[in-house]
Formats: sequence, structure tokens, C-alpha cells
Amino acid sequence: MTSTDEIRREFLAHFARHGHAIVPSAPLVPRNDPTLMFVNAGMVPFKNVFTGLETRPYLTAASAQKCVRAGGKHNDLDNVGFTARHHTFFEMLGNFSFGDYFKEEAIRLAWELLTGTWGIPAERLTVTVYHDDDEAHALWRRISGLPEERIVRIASSDNFWSMGDTGPCGPCSEIFYDHGPGIPGGPPGSPDADGDRFVEIWNLVFMQFDQQADGRRVPLPKPSIDTGMGLERIAAVLQGTHDNFATDTFRTLIEASGELTGTRVDTPPHAASHRVIADHLRASGFLIADGVLPANEGRGYVLRRIMRRAMRHAHLLGAKEPLMHRLVPALVRAMGAAYPELARAQPLVEETLKLEETRFRQTLEKGLKLLEEATAGLAPGAVLPGELAFRLYDTYGFPLDLTEDALRAQGLGVDRAGFEAAMAEQRARARAAWAGSGERGAEALWFDLAERLGATDFVGYATTEAEGVVTALVRDGAEVTEARAGDRVILLANQTPFYAESGGQVGDSGTITGEGGLVIRVADTQKPLGRLHAHEGVVESGIVRVGQPVRLAVDAERRAAIRANHSATHLLHAALRDVLGPHVTQKGSLVAPDRLRFDFSHPKALTPEELAAIEDLVNAEIRANVPATTRLMTPEAAIEAGALALFGEKYGEEVRVLGLGRPRAEGGRPFSVELCGGTHVSATGDIGLFRIVSESAVAAGVRRIEAMTGEGARRHLLAREEALKRIAASLKVAPEEAEARAAALAETVRRLERELAEARKALALAGPAQGDPVERIGAVDFLGRCVQGVEPRALKGLVDEAKAKLGSGVVAYVAVNDGRASVVAGVTDDLVGTVSAVDLVRTAAAALGGQGGGGRPDMAQAGGPDGARAAEALEAMRAQVRAALGVPA
Ligand code: ALA
Repeated sequence: MTSTDEIRREFLAHFARHGHAIVPSAPLVPRNDPTLMFVNAGMVPFKNVFTGLETRPYLTAASAQKCVRAGGKHNDLDNVGFTARHHTFFEMLGNFSFGDYFKEEAIRLAWELLTGTWGIPAERLTVTVYHDDDEAHALWRRISGLPEERIVRIASSDNFWSMGDTGPCGPCSEIFYDHGPGIPGGPPGSPDADGDRFVEIWNLVFMQFDQQADGRRVPLPKPSIDTGMGLERIAAVLQGTHDNFATDTFRTLIEASGELTGTRVDTPPHAASHRVIADHLRASGFLIADGVLPANEGRGYVLRRIMRRAMRHAHLLGAKEPLMHRLVPALVRAMGAAYPELARAQPLVEETLKLEETRFRQTLEKGLKLLEEATAGLAPGAVLPGELAFRLYDTYGFPLDLTEDALRAQGLGVDRAGFEAAMAEQRARARAAWAGSGERGAEALWFDLAERLGATDFVGYATTEAEGVVTALVRDGAEVTEARAGDRVILLANQTPFYAESGGQVGDSGTITGEGGLVIRVADTQKPLGRLHAHEGVVESGIVRVGQPVRLAVDAERRAAIRANHSATHLLHAALRDVLGPHVTQKGSLVAPDRLRFDFSHPKALTPEELAAIEDLVNAEIRANVPATTRLMTPEAAIEAGALALFGEKYGEEVRVLGLGRPRAEGGRPFSVELCGGTHVSATGDIGLFRIVSESAVAAGVRRIEAMTGEGARRHLLAREEALKRIAASLKVAPEEAEARAAALAETVRRLERELAEARKALALAGPAQGDPVERIGAVDFLGRCVQGVEPRALKGLVDEAKAKLGSGVVAYVAVNDGRASVVAGVTDDLVGTVSAVDLVRTAAAALGGQGGGGRPDMAQAGGPDGARAAEALEAMRAQVRAALGVPA
């Protein structure tokens, strides 16, 4: 049996023999198109070559390209598991001609491979052409000798292929394989064409137009060829099955899934679940390996939908524990040889799947229960209310397609309109995020300039000053030939030492000077199309003209700080992997003059010990002061050499590989090896010092470290020390003693607080003990007190107690709380006819700026706002008792 790996190799070898350049698969996240979520066809990485915006050193090429069709124009998600030939992730084998050969050669090459190299009998093949494409029809007749009835004219959009709503497109010709009468289905164009018997295996697109957003179709510079053959489908054909899921790659995955769940793989009810799991495992694994992480919108949400759909099927298989991550070794076994990035990302893929499945399982069961209850009475053909589907989505994390997938077996649907209505707001947000840059005009200008001028020659690795010639000036979005003092201008030169923002490193600032007193202050440098260095600045004096020689000088001090931060970022990245593990992958980076910021995949917060270990490792490499090494290599050689490649980065024919730090004991490679186009220190010692200033979360599974180096780090530490000095001064000790003093003070405060609380309690409970200020007024005992910190509601109790202790007498307490005073007075029963408690508190209230007061003659209370006059209030009550008893003052 020919393995899928061999088929891929044979396809590429066939086209290599016919002079095609073999181009490795681009990452799944397109880097040249803001309108596509994922690469959905082999031609996507070549889009700008078809339209003529970009040229490559070859006119014909072939590739095996990773594709995802889930979300967007080409979406196969709903079909997966229910047909023998739909996938979310698949590999597209394709050959391309950029204005080289056209229809005839494309048909010939395809026919030769299928019927020659692979020996597929012509009787098994049927082809289609676009209804008015007589030329293709005649060519097929002549080259293949197929009879008239097996060259079918198709009028529908099926035979007109376009990449998306915009982009290259053209009529196409499809090749179908007939799996034989044992399989239901009819030939293309017949009513039962949708069956699995006649399967489209190869699509030859005769690229002729560029579809514009406004509906126009602009002819491409030259007619071109784009073909696509699903590797999984041709593998099924060549492995003698009609079912993609029965091919070697899928068998490996499905058997692993069966083994881990202890379920049968080929019979209902579990067969479909195994297929869904196998398919979605591939999509999830490759998306994560290409830098996509689960999220609630955009690409990340498509990934989440795929993952969760698989996870429901794992649940159906009775998996009691997260399953998907345990299938990753099988995936790497099946596909890691052809796609080393998958093997490299294995730890990250496993961690991400495990985390997602662990979380989702917490709501999955409850959601399914709710769904079961809601559908209990529904007959086949009925629909679930959209609101409920939305609740499942919102509360239980059920993507709509998961709910639909779950209902499909019972023949139920979902009221999509209702769901959509509830979702409208979220959708609007997601759409806005994907609307693209909307700057077509500006883009066109840059394409124009790049075409005419070629890439800017960057000389800034070696120098921060250089001479150059002004090649273009842009003012207010349009090209101009000169600019004057006061003008805001973007300047291009044939060469420059100014680094343009990319790879997280900010653009350089500085000055551009020239004859006639020309001074341009450059605030930033950007890199349109990744090729032009656009200096953005203001003409301070003089006139600048296209064609004029100028001197370009980068702000060298700022650049030195940026360099130190960039190199430190690499050391940090390596240290993170050493300390936390190889699942750490860069998720984002900012290299500025004053700080660096590094986002990376890691599921939980770093401990203080981990942070200290990371900082120590980086500083040890800095002190070792090892010269940095830069090598130019092919991307393959660089990755071979252990370089950490950034996902989705655009690499040219050669890449810079930067080595930093001491050789490692194992393998002798430098501490850090990374592909990088940024500017770096010449030896690690130039970084000076590395200091982490914060660690935080950015998104689920992504952490952020901010750090400083060199002078910035020193200033940061100095500021800390100044703060310590101020603290010591206020504690009136030397800084060395501040810590002990602060600890002692804290202990004292704690003790005093304890004592105070106890004292308050004691006071509150205290009655007129011996030596208490009980005075005699005439023949009556009078106990009067001002107390602090006793709550008003405790006063009555205190007065009662005091009355009991006195046996016979008058008690008056004034308590002050937060500036307000409360008064309680009590008179023992024997004296009630003589002294009135109510009179006492009214007198006191008046003294406190309040009024009234109430109670009974033996116990009354009042209050007043002016707590500062508590003593006066007490004195007023004393005077009142005297008056009542007829005792003179
Ligand atoms: N781009 C064409 C397709 O995807 C070949 O079918």
C-alpha cells in the first residue's frame, strides 16, 4: 500500500521533474491577506504572485499546503463525520504556473500523474469543464481520450473557483474518481452527484481574474494555473478505499482513540465520533502549532468550536477524563515527519487541549442535560428555540455547531434566526475585528513604490549612520517630489540605518540632514509590505527633494537601549523554556527603549521562585559577556540548528540566526538560538543588567513578563532604593535597620491594637469599682463619667450596672463616638421622686447642641452633635442634681 507520506512525495517529485520549485507549506494563518481567516487552498500563499504584486525567483511551483476550511467562504465543518470525504483540516497538493504554462500543460501534467505514475485506470475518471470552456473541453478530448459523455459541462459556480470574496479566480475543470457502483451516488451534474461514489479528487483552476471588492473582475497580468488535490482523497483512491477515514493516517488516529476509550472504532454508535475526533484533532493540533490559541472570537473561536465539538464526541465515547491531549502522540507519529512544526509544538498542543477539555467538561454535562430536557417532547423535523441555543452558547460554552451536531442524530434543528438575533451584538464585534485594514488606497501606493524602487537596503545592523539618496516622498497619502519646512512627510531612501518596526522591535527615531540646512526629525520608522523602510517625520528646516543625497542618523542612545532589550528578550525566552518547559512559546513581544514585554504560552501564574530563577539565568548569561553570533542560513538549516522560529513570521530565502550566551553543556549550542531580523548587542555584557518588573495574565493560557535592562533597570532599582531611604528617614533609623524597625513597629502596632481593644472592653464592662469617682451631692451618690470609644448601645447596660452597684444614687454617662455624644442617665428607684433621669438627659442634650431626649424617670437617653462639649454636658447634669436636691454649688 502506498502510504500518504509516499503519495505526497511522489506528487512533489512529479512536478519537480517538470521544473517546478517545491515550496514548503506556509503556516495556516495567512500572512499576506487580511480578509482570510485561514489558508483554505494551496494557492493562498501565492496570491500576490498571481496578481503580479509580488515576484518570486520561479514561474512554476508545487506544494503540499496545510489548509483549514472552517469558517469563511469555504467551510466544511458541518459535514465532518457524516461523509467519507470532508475535513476541517486537510492537505492540498497543488501545482502553480504564474504566467508560464496554461490549460494544455496543466491538463497534461495532471493526466500523466494520475494515469501514468499512479496507474489509475482512465475508465475510473470523469472530468468537468465550465459550460462555455470549449478550449478545455477540446484539450481533455485530445490529451486524455476520454469519451464525450465523461467530459461534463457544468454551468454552475461549482466550476468557477474563487479564493474568497476577493482575490484571484477563474473557471475550473474538476477530475472525479468513480469508486464504483457499490457506493451510492451519481456522476457530476447528475441529481445524486452529492453521494460518495464520484469524488472530486483534483481541481484545475484556470486563473484569469482578480475579483475586486466592488464586484469587478480585473484580468490577471497573465493567465495562470492553480490546482488543488486533496491528499486525503487521493490517498483513499490509491489505498483502495472510498473512505478517507480508512487511510493510513486516519487509521492511526482512530485506533488510538478506540484504544484510549475502550470502544469499537468501526461500528455504530461510535464510528462517527471517532472520525470527528480524528479530524478535529488534526485541525486543533496544526492550528495550535501555527500559533492559534482558543479564544472567544476570530481565529481562536473557530479553533475552540472545533476542539469542543471533538470533546463532546469524546464524552459520547464515555471518556471520563480529558481525551484529546492523550491522542497528540499518535498525531505526531502520523504526521510529525512531514510537518516538524507539529512535533516541535507537541507540548503546547497537549497543554492547550488538556486545559480546554478540563474546563469544558465542567459545563458540558449540565448543558447536555438541559438540551435533553428541552428536546424531550420534540418530534423529528422540529427546531430548538434559538434563545435556548443561545443560552447553551452563553452559559454552557456550547458553540452553535456543537448544539446542531448534538441534535442532528434525532433529526432536530436549531432556530438559527433566533440564535443569530441573540448573538447579533457579539457578531458585530467579531465582524469589525475582521473588516481588514480598510486602507486599500495606501496599500496600493506602497505596492506601487515597492514595485518601482525595490526593497530598501537596511544597513543598520552594522551602523547607526549612513548616506543615502531620497527615492520617494509621501505627503498626505500621495507621492510628492519635494517637501518644505513644516511638512509632515514620509521619506524613502535607497538605503538606511533606521530599523523599521517589525518582530516586536519598535522603529528607530533620529534625524535626516542634507544640503541647504535640511533637517528632518524622524519620529518613527515603519515597514510597509515588509520591504520598504518608511521614515516618518517633520521637515524642520530646508527643502527635501527626491533624488537628493542625505545623511541618515539614528538616535544612537535610544537604539542601544532597544538593542539591549531585544537581546534580553531572547535570553528571557530561553530562560523561560529552561525553567518552565518547552511548551513555552512566544505569543507576542514588544521591544522598546525603556522596557521589554514578552507574552508567552503558559497555563498558570509564575511563582516568585520561578521568576527569581529566570532572572538569575538571564543575568548569569549577561555577566558571562559572550559575543553574539549572527549567521545567515536557510530556514531549514536554522531550524535544524535548534533555532526557535516565530510562528507565522515571514522569512525570505535566507534568515538571520542569532546565538546569544554561553554554549550549553549538551550540544554546544548557545544559551539562546533564534531566527531574528532585529538589532542586537554585540556581546551579552552590553545588556548590563536584567530586571523583571511584572508578571501577569493576558489571556487564557498566556502570561506576560515586563522587564528592564541596563540603565533602565539601574534607575528602576535606584528608585526603589530612594524609597527605602525615605522610609528609613521617617522611621528615624539607618536604611539597613529599616526592615527590623518596620517589623518591630508593626508588632508594636499589633500589640497596642490588641491592648486597646481589651482596654475598651474592660472600660465598657467596668462598674464603679473602688476609688471610682463617686461623689456625694448632699446625701446622694452621683457617678458621672465621660467615656471614649464605648458604643452608644452599650451605655444603657453600663448605667444599669452602675446603678446596681451604687444601690442608691444617680448615674450619668456621656460617650463620644466620631465627634458625636450620647448621654444616658439613671436614677435608682428610691430617688425617682427627687431626681428625674429625663430632665438630666435633656439638660445634657442642650449642652451638646442637641434637643430632646427621652425615656423614663429612672433611665433616659439623649444625644447631641457637639462631642467636644461632653464635659460641659456632664457638669450641667451635676448642677441639675444639685438643684434638685437643693444643694448649693
Ligand atoms: N484553489 C483550488 C481549490 O481550492 C485549486 O480547489
